Amino acid sequence: MNAEPVSPAERLRPLRRTRQFRQFDPTPLDRETLDALADVARWSGSSRNGQPWRFIVITDPSTLRAIHQAGLPQTRGVETATAAIAVVMPADADGAVHHAYDEGRVAERLLVAASVLDIGAGISWIRGDVRPSVHALLGIPPDRMVRTIVQLGHPTAAARAPKSAPGTARLPRDETVFDERFPGS
Ligand SMILES: Cc1cc2nc3c(=O)[nH]c(=O)nc-3n(C[C@H](O)[C@H](O)[C@H](O)COP(=O)(O)O)c2cc1C
Repeated sequence: MNAEPVSPAERLRPLRRTRQFRQFDPTPLDRETLDALADVARWSGSSRNGQPWRFIVITDPSTLRAIHQAGLPQTRGVETATAAIAVVMPADADGAVHHAYDEGRVAERLLVAASVLDIGAGISWIRGDVRPSVHALLGIPPDRMVRTIVQLGHPTAAARAPKSAPGTARLPRDETVFDERFPGS
């Protein structure tokens, strides 16, 4: 007998369930996992396939703790992370919108990849005033910048617990998704 077909919604569950993780247990991620995540990142699509990014895989606890300290409160999720991937983008103002779009694509893809692997990831935004110290920590050249650091690790049980009642963490579908035309138009 054939198994019941799996619904589209069920197949897309890892994407729907992708969430920010900010608390991790000390068990490190293995190199194979980090390499697989980095490969997902570098295979992301980008404007005109320009692949404007470079990635730094960070596992040194002293670097992770220094980034956490430098960028608070946005970097609070890095405090217990056992790894992070810094998304290194061009610093030029030309193409800033395209670069930001590409950066968002790669960051979210890393979060989805972590969700598929049942590990945790989250976005830490590196503010402009914090960037020089993070750049110094990571040896970023003057024509590049780091705005997104994706923290990674095995989430604690508390971090895995739902933060809100089921179905309430996002606006309802009927307030966000419309058929054919914007409502009221
Ligand atoms: C562009 C962008 C920047 C973000 N920056 C930060 C950040 O600096 N620090 C942080 O802890 N979370 C950051 N987040 C995560 C959001 O706060 C998070 O996605 C939102 O609260 C929803 O949480 P959930 O995905 O766990 O439901 C960022 C998300 C996006 C899309």
